Amino acid sequence: MIDFNTLSKEELINLKQDLQKQYDGYLSLKLDLNMSRGKPCKEQLDLSNDMLNIKDYISSDNIDLRNYGILDGIKEAKDFFGSLLDIASKNIIIGGNSTLNMIYDAISRLYIFGYNGYTPWHKLDKVKFLCPVPGYDRHFDILEKFNFEMINIPITKDGIDMDMVEALCKEDESIKGIICVPLYSNPTGTCYSDETIKRLAKMETKAKDFKIFYDNAYAIHYVYEKINLYNIFDACKKYNTEDRIYYFFSTSKINFPGGGISLLAGSDNTIKDTLKHLSIQTIGYDKINQLRTVKFLKDKENTLKFMDKHANILKPKFDIVLNTLKENFKDNPILKWEEPKGGYFVSVNTENGLAKKVVSMCKELGVILTDAGSTYPKKLDPNDSNIRLAPSFPSIEELKKAMDIFCLCVKIATIDKMLA
Ligand SMILES: Cc1ncc(COP(=O)(O)O)c(C=O)c1O
Repeated sequence: MIDFNTLSKEELINLKQDLQKQYDGYLSLKLDLNMSRGKPCKEQLDLSNDMLNIKDYISSDNIDLRNYGILDGIKEAKDFFGSLLDIASKNIIIGGNSTLNMIYDAISRLYIFGYNGYTPWHKLDKVKFLCPVPGYDRHFDILEKFNFEMINIPITKDGIDMDMVEALCKEDESIKGIICVPLYSNPTGTCYSDETIKRLAKMETKAKDFKIFYDNAYAIHYVYEKINLYNIFDACKKYNTEDRIYYFFSTSKINFPGGGISLLAGSDNTIKDTLKHLSIQTIGYDKINQLRTVKFLKDKENTLKFMDKHANILKPKFDIVLNTLKENFKDNPILKWEEPKGGYFVSVNTENGLAKKVVSMCKELGVILTDAGSTYPKKLDPNDSNIRLAPSFPSIEELKKAMDIFCLCVKIATIDKMLA
């Protein structure tokens, strides 16, 4: 595809007429395609159907799991996730089916009660959080709910702009935390380097109750390349900063988002502090689901092999997105994109001021994308440029059509901007 910047005004007008005809053709098809959320497709969900046949309810230490109790999770689940994620099982609490719920609750507790004797955050004039951008909309929604001020931190090829993070945290006591996705980030696919993780562990923070919300949602969710993340607990141990970590993970995208299990991991102090409050919130989570999850996934080795099956389903879909972008924009730099090695998304950037327009044009043609702006706090993308594509849910045929339409809309919107 030719570089639009080399075309004359007349050539652009002619091209626009051609593209508009294609647009009008799609309009008459009344399509209904959705590339908006990172949901596993039916084929992926079906991989775990055998889990539903597991009816056991007696734990390995002979406890009847149908009854109340075991607030922090059953032993086999804590051992399983400890081994999978390389975290001591005593530092893990197994929760319900949603990490987001655990993140929301953890922030609520810090807000209402404070961490281990520190001033509760609701008593402070201002609480600020660092937000790597583009990032995950639901994280930002939680922080917005608590009225925290969100500071955008640019994503870099090694993770996040650590110079900026260190400078801010060192000076400003009202910065109480950062929320980040260290591996195959949503939406950029960014993987944090060892150096980035060590710096997060080592950095000086003026707030003594500074917390890193470390949402390792895609810890084993590779598509093209398996990447090992440096263990943040090991890094923190060295600098005696383990209390700053709130680590999250779930099986939402291993078995079922509607029936998985989540976990929170932290230092001894954090686990103790959390359980103190959690014991008032609940007598225990769904232990029967914990047991059948572990019986189904078995061990680390089997789980990693199981993730190959997900990768085999996802790879052709990511290929379509990335190859279509390449075919359309390799020589026409009106759209830029990241090449993720895993996770659930492809992040693209239009020319400034065009993301909202492209998303609404796609919608008019029946292709639903994540709302433009969603990848920024308060849905405010300062450049109106970032769009998140989610290839997992649609079928291959739907995805091909959706991507053709997306590329068409980018071209028309860009030509309109050039002609304006
Ligand atoms: C970074 C990140 N964290 C958390 C979630 C949701 O996790 P859960 O289903 O465990 O609530 C998602 C889902 O897309 C995500 O991308």
